[in-house]
Amino acid sequence: MFDQTMFDKDPLSALEALTAAQWLAFAPLAHQATAVMRDRGVLAALGEAPSSQGCTIDDVARATRLSTYAARVLLEAGLGLRILWRKDGRYHLGKLGRVLLDDEMTRVNFDFTRDVCYKAANHLDESLSNGRPAGLKELGHWATVYEGLSVLPEPAHTSWHAFDHFYSDRAFPAALDRLAARAPARMLDIGCNTGKWAQLCLGRMAALEVGLVDLPPQLERARQRLAGAGLVERARFHPVDLLDPASALPGGYELVWMSQFLDCFSEEQIVAILDKVRAALPPGGRVWILELFWNRQRFEAAAFSLQQTSLYFSCVANGNSQMYDSSVFLGLVERAGLQVTTLTDGIGGYHTLVECIAAK
Ligand SMILES: C[S@@+](CC[C@H](N)C(=O)[O-])C[C@H]1O[C@@H](n2cnc3c(N)ncnc32)[C@H](O)[C@@H]1O
Repeated sequence: MFDQTMFDKDPLSALEALTAAQWLAFAPLAHQATAVMRDRGVLAALGEAPSSQGCTIDDVARATRLSTYAARVLLEAGLGLRILWRKDGRYHLGKLGRVLLDDEMTRVNFDFTRDVCYKAANHLDESLSNGRPAGLKELGHWATVYEGLSVLPEPAHTSWHAFDHFYSDRAFPAALDRLAARAPARMLDIGCNTGKWAQLCLGRMAALEVGLVDLPPQLERARQRLAGAGLVERARFHPVDLLDPASALPGGYELVWMSQFLDCFSEEQIVAILDKVRAALPPGGRVWILELFWNRQRFEAAAFSLQQTSLYFSCVANGNSQMYDSSVFLGLVERAGLQVTTLTDGIGGYHTLVECIAAK
């Protein structure tokens, strides 16, 4: 169950607030220093030191081939960041350092913010003022990131897809079990991306047909994945730009699936897309929406990550979407004439599955 009291009071003392403010003031430098310590092996050198011995600055310089000066400024920055601790001139990896080194979610989030968002964040004010992703030009010249997904420069391409897949990969198995319990004959996967969900579903349900909807370049990647897995015969590919007012969705699919898709759009766009979904649905058709809502998380780290990810949507993705508060999102679902039948939190740890039918 999520914690509804997470943000309902001011949690900091005056002194804590002053400290937290300095973390923010120095956040860009702290972020880069942390990335260098991870990627140049400073954290690993400390982590590999025999327990309780720690390392001197020169030990770290030798192990990483950094100069003594470079090792010293990084290690001292790491102390203030609570990544490391020091006793008798010897540096030790703290719990935070261990998480930075070993926790996959942290690594994926870190790479995403550094490789996709860091430079773009410098254009946040302009993005919010104009409702356009003014930072996207740091990666390429498209109106939205979705047009450039398949050709993003490295390392942004790898980090974007790792970020997207990390979360959906964890939610898909639990969602798949639920789907298989009452398997549809034909399912439409809107915003199919690289086709991972379609592959899982086709592999699990032998009689299932899947329609895949996305922009043409991503759809081609999904086709290649399904062809490689020998599953393409039961797949239909529908290139549709859901933002084109003239576009419509193919009919005949009794279940429409959208995972981490509607958060890519503004409130008005979500209602317009759901109107198209409802128009394509046969009588008795179902709509399953898998989303991440910051206000339905058990842990502060998850809520925090989602709230900050909204800023990526502002300055990189498209300038007008976000990770929604579920009360805002469910209002849009209702406006589009859909009725929520079941709401299941904690799918894969963080997602909410919103099961709907067309309202009578
Ligand atoms: C965040 S990804 C979600 C991927 C996948 N469903 C998952 O759960 O991992 C959003 C997908 O929506 C697609 N998309 C974005 N804008 C679109 C549009 N206007 N029309 C169709 N697809 C779009 C993107 O290309 C991308 O594959």
